[in-house]
Amino acid sequence: MIDDPTGPAPALAVLRSSLAVDDALTRLDGAMADQARHLATLTALSARIAALTGSDGAVSPYRQGRLKTLQLRYTATEKLLDKARQTLDEDRAAYRAALTLGRESLCRHAILLAELRAGQDSQIRKNAGLCRALERQFHRQCDSVPISAPDTAASGFDVPEGSYDYISIGLSRFLDMLGRLDHCLSMDPAYACDGARYRPVSFLEIGCGPGHILELARTCGICRFGTCTGFDINPQAIALGRAAFDLGDAVTVGDALEHDYSQAEVIYSFRPFSNPDLQSRLEARLAETMRPGAYLIAPMPLDLDRHGVLTPVDRAAEIWRKSG
Ligand SMILES: C[S@@+](CC[C@H](N)C(=O)[O-])C[C@H]1O[C@@H](n2cnc3c(N)ncnc32)[C@H](O)[C@@H]1O
Repeated sequence: MIDDPTGPAPALAVLRSSLAVDDALTRLDGAMADQARHLATLTALSARIAALTGSDGAVSPYRQGRLKTLQLRYTATEKLLDKARQTLDEDRAAYRAALTLGRESLCRHAILLAELRAGQDSQIRKNAGLCRALERQFHRQCDSVPISAPDTAASGFDVPEGSYDYISIGLSRFLDMLGRLDHCLSMDPAYACDGARYRPVSFLEIGCGPGHILELARTCGICRFGTCTGFDINPQAIALGRAAFDLGDAVTVGDALEHDYSQAEVIYSFRPFSNPDLQSRLEARLAETMRPGAYLIAPMPLDLDRHGVLTPVDRAAEIWRKSG
């Protein structure tokens, strides 16, 4: 029954059966009111007929005509009452049938909801497992890289005061944001493209560290990225990323506060700075130098909302678009 592809959508079936119960109840109420009205009329007519008839059953001749009329009305009302009783029986049966269908429909809906919940639960566990496995794989890949002579010059690098060191956002959360970005891009006329959801877009990661997220962005295929690049203030992390993920020139050493953001169509930034003044400066620079129509994925922004040119475009306010 649940898998019947020709049946109405389950939520619609519940709505429809609820409306049917409501209709049946309205008809039943109407039939009961009709019956009560006819009964009242009969009672009133009986009283009037009795009043015309003397205690011995005799009726004076000048009241005969009046009595006849009342008796005719009485007979007609009795017929109406019979009809009303019949309608009431039918409406009662229809109401019971609608209730049964409604109960069945609710039951099917409850089963379906339970199945959906179970499916969702297993999906969440599966996703979490895959992300865990991938994260371990990324770490293993980084651990297996022998840092060669030029890179050791950068070893022991300390991120500047006010910057965060490398802390990954978490692969699952990033994939979720990519899913939302993909939706935004597919709806944005500025990125429209014949025969595809949208044209290829360039992706830039600020503070990419050794490149876990960059590697994921370029391989997962959720968004249509033409190029994926990143930079980080930490040269050691960049050297590691180049060696571990074969990122080559896609990753460079650079300072987020000096970068020109006008080249990328999608920029991703997850709090490079712990110092609020520095984070605020970065966000102002992004708002100023991003190209019109570009997107910014920014989990945990500080004060992006203070820049009128940027508008949040997803429910979590993690994806922003520059006007234009
Ligand atoms: C919180 S981690 C974010 C890591 C990664 N983007 C992610 O989302 O998983 C911050 C990164 O920003 C880098 N960073 C800090 N200050 C920076 C700056 N001034 N310019 C560029 N990168 C910086 C750090 O080296 C670190 O890799």
